[in-house]
Parts: sequence; C-alpha cells; structure tokens
Amino acid sequence: MILPPDEKSADLGDSHFSIEDLVDIHVHILPGLDDGAKTRDDSIAMATIAAKCGTSRIVATPHVDPLRLRHSSQQVEIIKRAVDSLQKSIISCGLSVQVMPGMEIAMAPDLVGYLNRGEVMTVADGGKYVLIELPFQMIPSYTEQEIFNIAASGYIPIIAHPERNASVIHNPNILIPFLKAGALAHVNADSLTGREGPKSQKTAEILLSHGLAHIIASDGHSSTSRQSRLDRAFEIAARLVGEDKALKTVRDIPLAIVLGEDVSVPEPEEYKTRRKWWRIWEGRGSS
Ligand SMILES: [Fe+2]
Repeated sequence: MILPPDEKSADLGDSHFSIEDLVDIHVHILPGLDDGAKTRDDSIAMATIAAKCGTSRIVATPHVDPLRLRHSSQQVEIIKRAVDSLQKSIISCGLSVQVMPGMEIAMAPDLVGYLNRGEVMTVADGGKYVLIELPFQMIPSYTEQEIFNIAASGYIPIIAHPERNASVIHNPNILIPFLKAGALAHVNADSLTGREGPKSQKTAEILLSHGLAHIIASDGHSSTSRQSRLDRAFEIAARLVGEDKALKTVRDIPLAIVLGEDVSVPEPEEYKTRRKWWRIWEGRGSS
C-alpha cells in the first residue's frame, strides 16, 4: 500500500513516497562480520532507517567467499546466532523489522557442492534462492555453467548488483544467458539513485527496464553512506517502469523469495545500443 508522505518519512526528507512492507534481501547489517555494520549500535541505526523507509523484512547477508572458508558450517552457525541476537535487540528497541539469515556468496566453482554440504546458506535459509556476487572487473568463464548447475540442482541463483560489473556495464545483454539458465538479478538501490556513479546508474536503468533485473535491494553497509533503504529507488523505478512493476521489485518478488515461493518474471529483452543503430544508419547512408 502506498501512503501519502507522513511523519515516518518526513525526517529523512528526500523521498516523496511512503511505502510499507518492503523486503530487502541484501543488507550487511550484522555487526563485526564483514565491511558492513561495525557495532550493534550501527546495526540498530540501520534497522531504524529501514523501518522508517517502509522496510519490514531484512535478509542479513555477510560476504562469504567459499574458497576462503576453512570451517564452513561454523560460518553458517555464526550468522544464525548473530541474527537471533540482533533480532532480540531490534525488538527491545521497539522496531518492527524482522531480520533473516543469509549470505552474499562470491562466485566460485562448484557452489552446488558448498550448498549441498550446508557450508553456505540460501536466502533466509529457505533452501531455494542463492545470492551470488560476481567480481567487479570481469565475469568468470565458468559462470554460465555454474548458474546452470545451481538451477539444475533446484536452487535459484540471484545475481547481486550486476550493474556494478564492468562487463555488464559494457554489454548488459551478457546477462541474458544467465537469466535463461534460471537466474534472477537484483540492482542496488544506490545504483538507481546515482550514488554508485553514472555508469552503474545507467546500467541499472537498462537492466530494470529490459527485464534483465527483477529486484531492488539496498546492499546497505551502514547508517550513513550506504543505507538500508528502498524508498528512493522505488520512486525512481516507478518513473522508469510504472508503479505496479516497481512495487514488485521492492515488495512482491523479494517477499516471495524470503518465503521460498516461486516467482514469475518476464522474458529478458535484448538491449539495443544506439551505437548499433547508428552503424546501421551509417551503412545505409554510404551504400
Ligand atoms: Fe553486498
């Protein structure tokens, strides 16, 4: 439900919408586990901002690199215990935010093996969706096969913030084989708002408007520079793809994901660059 601006959002001042029941599937909110929240106070501050901006569910997603894990099942238990502890603190602060366990897993060979052995965790520990981070500068050659293997094993990969990857920025259509192999993708809220730079912003807009990304998540790291809020990005997405589709990206699809339900998304649409059309036009002109 979209509400008129009210006191909840007024003190954050830069969004025209107040929306409720948003679900953020990618937040580094657990204190001291990665480059996200440093202290419990930081975590509470992040949850407070998320709640004020309409988010009611957060998946805590510390960075995990399977190739660097020594005692992997321990990491899963550490995250689950940290979520339980933070949830108690959030409740004691009177906040209506549910925190669920998860991981942002670095792309690596044989992720299915790590998943099946319980060494890495699915989104909300639901056994279905897997949040995967690609390197920023390139896409590993085994990525399509790996995504196919994960999907064939009954999991659904979610590619985190592809708009920040240099290869995707160069050619957004590089994602299409991954999506056809069964993956979903999410863009960062701060990419849409331009806080991650003009290249990521333009790419995020392309991905969202061409069905090459299906979800907006905050990738929140703190209560200051990278906040856990989706309201500003929703407003931009609503202008880009319409309000109904935008609501799906911040509420309906991520809710289905944390509940372990199936999601239905449109076929990806190829992005045609202006440069390509310009070349065609030039070719006609010279013949
Ligand atoms: Fe992240």
